[in-house]
Amino acid sequence: MTLKINLKSVTLMNLFALFIVLVYSCKKETTEINPSINTDKILYDLSKSNTGFVWYKNSDVLLNKSSGTGHFQALLRTRYNAVASTQLDASGKVKTGSIFPEGSLIVKELYDNSTTLSRYAILYKKSDSQDADPRGWVWGYINANGSVADAASNKGRTCISCHSQNGNIDYMLMNKFFQ
Ligand code: HEC
Repeated sequence: MTLKINLKSVTLMNLFALFIVLVYSCKKETTEINPSINTDKILYDLSKSNTGFVWYKNSDVLLNKSSGTGHFQALLRTRYNAVASTQLDASGKVKTGSIFPEGSLIVKELYDNSTTLSRYAILYKKSDSQDADPRGWVWGYINANGSVADAASNKGRTCISCHSQNGNIDYMLMNKFFQ
């Protein structure tokens, strides 16, 4: 008799444990669908509107790409979200020696010609992202239509060496090429 009850309660406990595991794994599935695509989508959503950003040198005029660029589009302009803009001086240039704080978002808009926005090159300081590089930066390269040109999960593999050249400020190169 005692044995029977014990068996029953053990079975119930097992069922309960199974239930918890099932609920937990379902939850996990909904929050962790293809993590790398999620990061690109997050970057795209954060970058596609320029509301609340400050332009490099306080100007939204399109600039001719520099001699040093690794970006093939002819024209560009760069903007900083409110957090990143704390590292700009009054003329809208990046202050010497800046280390951008968490949450900084820098977006370079790349244009094929004066009217056609082609791509966003993005740097986002988010050190707890699984796609962050060792310095906490997430690298985004996303076409204007939302398709991914270089996935954030590559962690800036094709970008970092060039952005580490002499004269960079926390990877930023605008100051060096647009004085
Ligand atoms: C061969 C060099 C080179 C490579 C590779 C390169 N960049 Fe750049 N990048 C530049 C230069 C130079 C600038 C300054 C503006 C310009 O002339 O394009 C720049 C500007 C930027 C900016 C604006 C912020 C700033 O001040 O630097 C972002 C964001 C950016 N690049 C992201 C990327 C990403 C993402 C990749 C890789 C997918 C990448 N870059 C690869 C050279 C490079």
